[in-house]
Amino acid sequence: MATITYCAFTFILFLLAHFGESATFNVAAKANVDVGPALLKAWKEACATKTASTIVIPKGTYPMTQVVLIGPCKAPLELQIMGTLKAPPNPKDMDIKKEWFTIRYIDHFTLTGGGTLDGQGNVIVYPAKGKSHKLPNNLSLNFLTNSVIRGITTLNSKQFHVNVLGGKNLTFDHFTVKAPGDSPNTDGIHIAKIVGAVIKDSVFATGDDCISIGDGLENLKITGVTCGPGHGISVGSLGRTPGETPVKGMFVSNTKFIGTENGARIKTWPSSHHGVITDIYFENIDMKNVKNPIVIDQEYCPNNECNKQKPSLVKISKVSYKNIKGTSATPDAVILGCSKGVPCEGVEIGDINLTFKGGAAKSVCKNVKPKLTGKQVPPLVCK
Ligand SMILES: *[C@@H]1O[C@H](CO)[C@@H](O)[C@H](O)[C@H]1NC(C)=O
Ligand SMILES: *[C@@H]1O[C@H](CO)[C@@H](O)[C@H](O)[C@H]1NC(C)=O
Ligand SMILES: *[C@@H]1O[C@H](CO)[C@@H](O)[C@H](O)[C@H]1NC(C)=O
Repeated sequence: MATITYCAFTFILFLLAHFGESATFNVAAKANVDVGPALLKAWKEACATKTASTIVIPKGTYPMTQVVLIGPCKAPLELQIMGTLKAPPNPKDMDIKKEWFTIRYIDHFTLTGGGTLDGQGNVIVYPAKGKSHKLPNNLSLNFLTNSVIRGITTLNSKQFHVNVLGGKNLTFDHFTVKAPGDSPNTDGIHIAKIVGAVIKDSVFATGDDCISIGDGLENLKITGVTCGPGHGISVGSLGRTPGETPVKGMFVSNTKFIGTENGARIKTWPSSHHGVITDIYFENIDMKNVKNPIVIDQEYCPNNECNKQKPSLVKISKVSYKNIKGTSATPDAVILGCSKGVPCEGVEIGDINLTFKGGAAKSVCKNVKPKLTGKQVPPLVCK
């Protein structure tokens, strides 16, 4: 926090307000001391400042137990994390009702600095195969508006790396997610109930979905992303809980999948509640050794946790795949497994060229009659 007296502080604020410049609050971070309280103190001062302000966590490595930063703030605020913040390795040392690092209800917030948020899931949680039931570990960004997350790395989260819930107009730029390919449940960004989001020029290497999309998401643009290892970019799973709101508008372009389980995936549960997934576009996608490059799975049912007798009632419409190229690691290059209860509508498949080293790649169509434009390898034979 700022090492200035209150009086001088007020005077400086007066000057800043006068000249329209931004105030800087340096977090008094010390090695081996929980940086949380110092960050919270700087936050309170910066958030109350009437001009734009910047909080700086300097270079270095600091432990951080759990922090919740809440707005609204009086003016735009930037948090520069230059150092590495390390979560307690043992989830038992954390309050399971709270996430690791929560930032919420702020307009015009920017997170930058080139620093790293290290969840230390690799120490105790991953070796236990994620068996601890409650894992209080996310960077949780809730109800942020007109905000940007730029040049930040999240490493070895105990659970989802980032959980975005609610808000409007949020951009991730040059964001990095890093965890081993076999780390359980470590989705890169799970994003739901937000209107207007961008994820661009970012790299995801993790043990679960690189990006997963929950209900109530409208207008998400993903571009310039590299995913792998990981489970791909997934809409859903949806349909399991009642009252889910539609997923409307997702545009994925100029993205690479390398050695992932899936590429472009949409998944819903069978025997489901009603739901809507519409306006989903995948364009200019490179696949390298991806097990299932294109997948619609409306019988998503991991560990047989459900009844497959009844179909999914999540309606999928207006989905397009254009210029998708590269290699599939299995023969199942294209799987369009739509629901017999609510068949997919308005599916368009443009140029596709997905090859399989061990023989011919194939496609599967169920309950869908896609419009074919351009040339498809493997061919799509949908009755
Ligand atoms: C972390 O995020 C996931 C995904 O949204 C959520 O299920 C989990 O409850 C969150 N963790 C906590 C402690 O809230
Ligand atoms: C979205 O947020 C960014 C960052 O604050 C801002 O520059 C941009 O104008 C906002 N866009 C809209 C449509 O409000
Ligand atoms: C598909 O890709 C393979 C490998 O890159 C290439 O040899 C082949 O000509 C392509 N086919 C089409 C129809 O573009």
